Amino acid sequence: MWLEILTLDTGKTYLDHAGSQLPAKTLINSFAADLNSHLYGNPHSASTPSHLAGERVDEIREQTLKFFNASSEDFELIFVANATAAVRLVTECIQDYVASLPKPMLSKKPTFSFSYHRECHNSLVGIREVANSHLCVDDEDVEQWLSSGASKKRMANNGVHLFAYPGQSNFNGRRLPLQWPNRIREAGMQDTYTLVDAAALATTTPLNLDAMQPDFLAVSFYKIFGFPDLGGLIVRKASTARIIAARRYFGGGTVDVVAAQRGSGSGRGQTPGWHVKRAALSAQLEGGTLPFHNIVALGHALRTHHDLYGADPMAAISRRTSALAAAAYARMMAARHRGGAPVFAVYKDNRAVYGDPATQGATLAFNVLRADGTAVGFKDVERAADRKGIFVRSGGHCNPGGVTSYLGWTPRDLREMYVRMGHACEDMVQLYLGRPTGVVRASLGACSTMKDIDALLDFVREEYVDKAPAAPAEMSLRQIVVEMESRTLDDADGTGEGSTATDRSKRVMMTLRTGKSHSWLENLLDIVNVRKVWNTGVLLI
Ligand SMILES: Cc1ncc(COP(=O)(O)O)c(C=O)c1O
Repeated sequence: MWLEILTLDTGKTYLDHAGSQLPAKTLINSFAADLNSHLYGNPHSASTPSHLAGERVDEIREQTLKFFNASSEDFELIFVANATAAVRLVTECIQDYVASLPKPMLSKKPTFSFSYHRECHNSLVGIREVANSHLCVDDEDVEQWLSSGASKKRMANNGVHLFAYPGQSNFNGRRLPLQWPNRIREAGMQDTYTLVDAAALATTTPLNLDAMQPDFLAVSFYKIFGFPDLGGLIVRKASTARIIAARRYFGGGTVDVVAAQRGSGSGRGQTPGWHVKRAALSAQLEGGTLPFHNIVALGHALRTHHDLYGADPMAAISRRTSALAAAAYARMMAARHRGGAPVFAVYKDNRAVYGDPATQGATLAFNVLRADGTAVGFKDVERAADRKGIFVRSGGHCNPGGVTSYLGWTPRDLREMYVRMGHACEDMVQLYLGRPTGVVRASLGACSTMKDIDALLDFVREEYVDKAPAAPAEMSLRQIVVEMESRTLDDADGTGEGSTATDRSKRVMMTLRTGKSHSWLENLLDIVNVRKVWNTGVLLI
């Protein structure tokens, strides 16, 4: 049953389910059959096909809320492009809401203050750019708010305080406490709203929104079902209705009536335009034509999940992926080179336990180590795996807090890597000072099997265990602080070899602070953008 949904050719190993799940063949087939046998029109029209599309959208909205154990009395689902779009929508609503609040007499203007957990994805970190103030927090900070009465006043700040955190880190799959929204509400933290990013969490675990009670929750459906490419924002009506109602922009489908010519502006001495918004929160936020074909596909995705995985599909997927991840983790931790040195550095939060779905999802973030303890570049591992038909993902995963928390780099280090080495998402320096700047991520999903874990471990054993000698350049890069000087051999040691700036065989000369020098052929350097060494001349790394 589990293998039936693999859409890949046999012999391929897909381990990037945190990027996207794989759609089941039956999902694609049933969706195609549906489109081939029904006429769906734009739900904003009044024709029979449009009515049909509208009815399907309403049904699927309801079914999706049920899928997340969210009662439609308390919650509303807004269809969006993806989790990032959901986050932006929340941000826009809060900005407009705070701007609409009157300034109390003898008090400061209301503000939008934003706290985000360190393990947030960039899509949430970016909110800070539009907030009036922001704070990056960790678990201990949140616990301190919850126990400290003094913070309540500070957080309220006469406006809105939004606290955003991921239900699951997309960096290494650590799961964060789902009780926080309730506890924050119970602690009486005035005007504090929680935004739970469930993009990673919802992929392999059932959600229970009736229990969790987040104010806002963002998901991407393609990460749960593989298809359709669609996202959702789920809002808790009681707490968020007034924030949503304050959103100023309106578009097609979000208003009941608009007077086109009326009004000159909202400033002093101007007359505002006139329009009336639609009543439902989803209608107020879903501007333009709904992605109705995608929503129809979501209906098929929900049904297919039941057909393939049983009455409680996400609970079954959770059990299975959790057990697989625990087995993979145990095997990785046990893997050794001949001399006893570990083969993997696996990055796990101390509070997380593989096999316990409350604290850890089915994601493994790791680096491959050589027998001498040096790390193999994570991109090199990804590329080598890809050549063998094993698909993982590597890098920082849009999770700067994960990079700092688990790899030990400070924000200052990241800045320095960027300025000095051009280290960036699309063009990463794999090792800096001999230490990895990112990880390889293997993430499991509904269709993962033990064969996938075997394939990954076999690949690493064949490729790296007791095999890969450390490159001379990497030995140099392991030195703590070095001053690297790049020169042609003409300049460096006068041998006259490799004298043009584009010559790939030129020598790089590195002088350590100790005064000791190393030189090596440029193309042996285990950093991606070695070219920059030549362009910039002198690098302090
Ligand atoms: C935890 C988390 N949040 C947010 C996102 C952004 O999701 P999307 O790209 O679907 O907007 C991702 C994507 O990988 C994620 O893993």
